Amino acid sequence: MIMPKLTFLPHKQICPEGKTIEVEPGLSVCDAALKNGIDIEHACEKSCACTTCHVHVREGLDSLEEASEMEEDYLDKAWGLDTDSRLSCQTIVGEEDLTIEIPKYTINLVSENH
Ligand code: FES
Repeated sequence: MIMPKLTFLPHKQICPEGKTIEVEPGLSVCDAALKNGIDIEHACEKSCACTTCHVHVREGLDSLEEASEMEEDYLDKAWGLDTDSRLSCQTIVGEEDLTIEIPKYTINLVSENH
């Protein structure tokens, strides 16, 4: 089986040194990260109902399935949105390597509502 590599760029709190992991295709980027100790926020439990799992796919974006309309709607509210933005819980690893940047901030809608 092909095990694509996911390279996470350094993020001060979440992975200060950055990290490269090998991932089974079919897992979401969020699950793959969590399994490997990279603690991406996932306030809605990965049900595409928040923006806390927002990441930038800096390389390999073209190899991925396009975002659904629902994902796009949430992305519109994400901090630091750009053309590489995806919700990591909705982004399924394919057969190609990806480079992921975790944004500096998230807007945690869930905690704001409490
Ligand atoms: S964890 Fe909420 S949309 Fe991904």
